[in-house]
Amino acid sequence: MATKFYTKDGNLDLLSLSVPVYLYNDPLSFLDAIHAIKKNPQTNLFDLTSLYDFTILKPTAIHFFFWLLSDYGIPNGYRRMDAFPIHTYELANIHGETHYVRFNFRTEQGFSPLTTPQAAAIQAVDLDYFTRDLYNAIDSGDYPAWKLEMDVMTPHDIQKLDYNPFDVSRLWKNGTFFTVPIGRLVLNKHVENHFRDVEQAAYNPGHLVPGIPGPVDFLFRGRRMFYRDTQNYRLGRNNNKILVNTPLYEKTYVRDGRPPTKLNMKNAPNYYPNSFHGPVPYVDEHRPWKKLLVLESNAVDLEPAWYFYNHILEDEAHRERFITNLAVSLVPVTPPVIQRAFKMLHLIDEDLAKRARAAYDVALAAAMALQAAAKATDQGVTPKRNYPTAEGPSKHNDTKRVYRLGIHHEHDFMDHH
Ligand code: HEM
Repeated sequence: MATKFYTKDGNLDLLSLSVPVYLYNDPLSFLDAIHAIKKNPQTNLFDLTSLYDFTILKPTAIHFFFWLLSDYGIPNGYRRMDAFPIHTYELANIHGETHYVRFNFRTEQGFSPLTTPQAAAIQAVDLDYFTRDLYNAIDSGDYPAWKLEMDVMTPHDIQKLDYNPFDVSRLWKNGTFFTVPIGRLVLNKHVENHFRDVEQAAYNPGHLVPGIPGPVDFLFRGRRMFYRDTQNYRLGRNNNKILVNTPLYEKTYVRDGRPPTKLNMKNAPNYYPNSFHGPVPYVDEHRPWKKLLVLESNAVDLEPAWYFYNHILEDEAHRERFITNLAVSLVPVTPPVIQRAFKMLHLIDEDLAKRARAAYDVALAAAMALQAAAKATDQGVTPKRNYPTAEGPSKHNDTKRVYRLGIHHEHDFMDHH
């Protein structure tokens, strides 16, 4: 879910995922993660071996995949999922005091998931299920809403932690922060034109406003550049002048080039610095002088994944569904990655490793049986196809049942006479 707040000080964009953690902390990992998750360059098939290979060698990602393999991975539609901007934002109030904040959008419809078989059944008949559900709810006046709240820590709280609160691959630990409600997001109308209002929208986490200088972590620093870059390419350099993106307030030297250019500020200076009252760089007077020094470590911490399995998954039934999904995802994984996958599960939690191994054996046997059955069926009942031959197809004996093309009345065209 991506949200744009059109404030009087400019746009604030919060881009959210439906799970509260991300895969890695190094912005340069994006390329490798996307390659590992997407299709194999030779077979053009999704390749779970490369996904697990990457994840085992960069194990920060395992926590994120655990969330996806649990009930939280398949919410029952957009209305019934929470949304998380993930990073720890630095916020300054008018007294110049800093707070560190994680925002959360909590669904007021209540979170509810689909099981994997339910999702597969829906996907087979309705690929628009999520969008349709959201559209119909808004259409019938049953406006979906989210509570926006923030988890807060003071600079003093931060000093006392035994974990890095800026690490996007982990949750804040219980008892180390307090939560403050700050508002509601209500979806109370449809867009008028999907292209104009959605496809042309440019959400950019670097769109920040006074008082919110933004998160300090390295991933966010990377994101400040990536989005601008892709949006310049996708929508042109003046994408802030497209209707849906236009801020209520902006100062810029970007004005000519690919449309829309709108009023291009006549002969106001288009360079900086200048002596003709052009915009000057924004300086946040409230931003604290003292900079926080965050030392990031490369050490691999499997504790978040352990915590997820033992404490986030709230009961045995959920744990069982998670393990089944995990086991099924491991079936196509080939050596040596599969052995390493079990070794990693073992390092995370022994109970998890043992149960995943047993579920994997069952899933593997089921997949093999399915494959054998498909092969047997294939040999038995290959449908006979009647291709046209040189003699031509046999003639239809009911010559009256032809479409009459070219008839002027529209209903005649559809009639079979
Ligand atoms: C290095 C890390 C990341 C990179 C390089 C990256 C890159 C991108 C790019 C290029 C887009 C397309 C933007 C556009 O065409 O308008 C995008 C979209 C998006 N990203 Fe990221 N992203 C990263 C991390 C994240 C994280 C941590 C989050 C969650 C907080 C996130 C949430 C989103 C969302 C929600 C969208 C869709 C926005 C829309 O609806 O237009 N991304 N990302």
